[in-house]
Amino acid sequence: MKNTSSTFVSSKQKGEKLALLTAYDYSTAKIIDNSGIDGILVGDSLGMVCLGYKDTLSVTMEDMLHHTKAVARGTENALLISDMPFMSYQTSVYDAVKNAGRLIQEGGAEAVKLEGGTLVYDQIKAIVKAQIPVMGHIGLTPQSVNIFGGFKVQGKEDSKAKQIIEDAKIIEAAGAFSIVLEGIPAKLAEIITNSVSIPTIGIGAGKYCDGQILVYQDMINMFSDFKPKFVKTYANVGESMTDAFKNYIQDVKKCVFPSEEHSFKINDNVLSKLY
Ligand code: KIV
Repeated sequence: MKNTSSTFVSSKQKGEKLALLTAYDYSTAKIIDNSGIDGILVGDSLGMVCLGYKDTLSVTMEDMLHHTKAVARGTENALLISDMPFMSYQTSVYDAVKNAGRLIQEGGAEAVKLEGGTLVYDQIKAIVKAQIPVMGHIGLTPQSVNIFGGFKVQGKEDSKAKQIIEDAKIIEAAGAFSIVLEGIPAKLAEIITNSVSIPTIGIGAGKYCDGQILVYQDMINMFSDFKPKFVKTYANVGESMTDAFKNYIQDVKKCVFPSEEHSFKINDNVLSKLY
């Protein structure tokens, strides 16, 4: 079944949980899509897990377009959401609509995600008016890392928690079809989930959200720089890759690879003419 922004909203109405993962390239998108995932996000986390930056702030529109195009080619049934990178929507409503449009028109995304609540109300409203579905993102929004003073859980004090609840309601009022809740206490996420009619998608926000999302390299142990507390490990792909690469190196050094089965044959008549 093809997932859309509308099926996301009806999943919440039916009480069905949504499962999302990130992807950044064709092959991985295809594996994730074939697994039956509801949504694939081309996150600006690509700056950290694919490009090796210390945060997401260096990611550009060109980076997002490049990776979104690749993921779009490998995605069939999942709803494909692309992240709006830092400074692609904060600068003006015009920039926001223009850049959201590029991710859809050039990148092949079906929805866009941007960070912030009250501060980006006008941007969300204008993008939705341009007929582009928007996913909001509040709580520990990585593009605000320098304001937060690091990647710290948000909403632990009552004033901050109330602001995050307000932001969720504003995002819904602006016309978004869902909201990512990142790095907030589970009970705060529960209050937000019960306060809005659009699905909440949690990452480090506990079990009460309408859905969950993880960065795929985190959940299969492929990204080793750090491991957030909220990540559950589902496979040790990093270890399997290391083993495979080491075995390959050994095989090459010992002349075990390539063997006959991995080599092409030539007709003996042709061969005799070559000496
Ligand atoms: O960039 C990203 O991968 C994200 C998810 C963590 C929600 O925004």
